[in-house]
Amino acid sequence: MKYSEMLDYNNMPTHISVIMDGNGRWAKKRGMPRLYGHRQGMEGVRRIVQACVDLNIRYVTLYAFSTENWKRPQDEVGGLMKLMVEYFNKEIDELDEKGVCVRILGDVDGLPAGPKACAVKAIEQTAGNEVLGLNIAINYGGRADIIQAVQKICTEVQDGRLAIEDIDDAVMDAHLYSAGIPDPDLMIRTGGEKRLSNFLLWQNSYAEIWFTDVYWPDFDIEVLSRAVYDYQNRDRRYGGLREDK
Ligand code: FPP
Repeated sequence: MKYSEMLDYNNMPTHISVIMDGNGRWAKKRGMPRLYGHRQGMEGVRRIVQACVDLNIRYVTLYAFSTENWKRPQDEVGGLMKLMVEYFNKEIDELDEKGVCVRILGDVDGLPAGPKACAVKAIEQTAGNEVLGLNIAINYGGRADIIQAVQKICTEVQDGRLAIEDIDDAVMDAHLYSAGIPDPDLMIRTGGEKRLSNFLLWQNSYAEIWFTDVYWPDFDIEVLSRAVYDYQNRDRRYGGLREDK
């Protein structure tokens, strides 16, 4: 039986975050350049978006480019930026028709002009769609996210708009790039590594984590369903005890 047929559709995670790892190794295994792996990774993005719509998942956040990825060779960075432009140009109308709302998490102003313009257009065109929230983390780092939130909060305190004693979880949530989006319930990392890699450090605090050796270009609805099935059979306690203990 397929995992997608074994899921409890009344207990789906509301928000899934994904570290899409393994594009380079997928390509190397086939004697192809790394960028070919990233291109196939873009197909993985198409597949997970459709899978989330089909499985009735409300939000998905994909780690496409980290603040650390600028350290990669220039041609790989340039290739990834071009792929993102291609993705938005090709997919945006279809995403819009499906009811997908695109948001970018990260420092959009720090992107080159081309990707920035496409990202802004995608956000504007799909704003208000409610079937699936597709959050793409670009030029994103979990620490940078927390720092920019703290800076905004400090400015409000300095201007007398916020009292120090009123700073709580909700205030932090409201100032992060993900403001208004519920925290991920499940974080998936493909490609066999078992690290957080500076991804949604605040937001992933209580996420169940699922690792797989599958390389990102091979990701599909069955792999996603396996992760969700595993999630549905876990006991989430948020630091408390199970009710029968
Ligand atoms: C990690 O694999 C992947 C990335 C750094 C980029 C992810 C980008 C995509 C999936 C394609 C474009 C995205 C969008 C939103 C259109 P890696 O290169 O670190 O793989 P490796 O660990 O095998 O070297």
